[in-house]
Amino acid sequence: MLRIFDKVSDIQSVLSKERAGEKSVGFVPTMGALHAGHLSLIAKSKQENELTVASIFVNPTQFNDKRDYALYRRDLEGDSKMLEDTGCDLLFAPSVEEMYPNESYKTLDFNPGPMGERLEGAHRPGHFAGVAAVVKRLFDIVQPDKAYFGQKDYQQYLIIRKLVSDFEMPIKVIPCPTEREESGLAMSSRNERLSPEGRKQAALIYKVLSKAKEQISDKSMSLSEIRQKALDSLERNGNFKADYFDICSAEDLHAATEQERATERLVICTAVNLEGVRLIDNVLA
Ligand code: PAF
Repeated sequence: MLRIFDKVSDIQSVLSKERAGEKSVGFVPTMGALHAGHLSLIAKSKQENELTVASIFVNPTQFNDKRDYALYRRDLEGDSKMLEDTGCDLLFAPSVEEMYPNESYKTLDFNPGPMGERLEGAHRPGHFAGVAAVVKRLFDIVQPDKAYFGQKDYQQYLIIRKLVSDFEMPIKVIPCPTEREESGLAMSSRNERLSPEGRKQAALIYKVLSKAKEQISDKSMSLSEIRQKALDSLERNGNFKADYFDICSAEDLHAATEQERATERLVICTAVNLEGVRLIDNVLA
């Protein structure tokens, strides 16, 4: 049975009792509008912990685009039902006032370093500052042993990993594989804003990423040629406008060099706009 809380003090008192019984706590922070990707994180947490906590909070401070914030689907009832069916134990779904009782909670003295400036950081000013502050607040409230994040937001995962390390929080941050629709499109709450035709076209993103991954391993082209070809296919084959398509170090997201190609784990990351919806995806290479 899913127990739902909207007050910090209420969930904290239940969690402190559970922890006194030595239960391990797994945590899945979300903004709601849940899909199979989120549910796979809940399932993973259930496998690895005695208690699974999810949160739903559409965090205003991480949206640099007001329209995106307004359009973000809110459906606490539908989401709770999905969480209950997946066997989640506790849900924390606070109001903005509860999360941010004063302005000081909205900011954090944390610097993700150069990786925070790249990719999403370059295109969504203030986004990661908002993410870091809300995740720190959620971690302080829930104090999980493990926290689960989808690989689709790879840069977010790396930044949260650094946050946990910088603040010496005893939390294991666990990246989980991206869940995909049958077409290959990465699952995202924003996919539902696409028209049926747009959703079909969006399958191209994963095709182009997969092609680039193949080209990286077969060594027939330079990284800059691969990148340019990918951008060309995205812009030529659909109504996409690409914000970026970059081949990066999977460790800190700096642009990978030809030498690193053979020795380092890489990640190919892209963000595209289609029908006014911004979609991101990546593959490890
Ligand atoms: O990935 C998300 O849904 C959000 O960025 C998160 C981690 C829940 C913080 O608001």
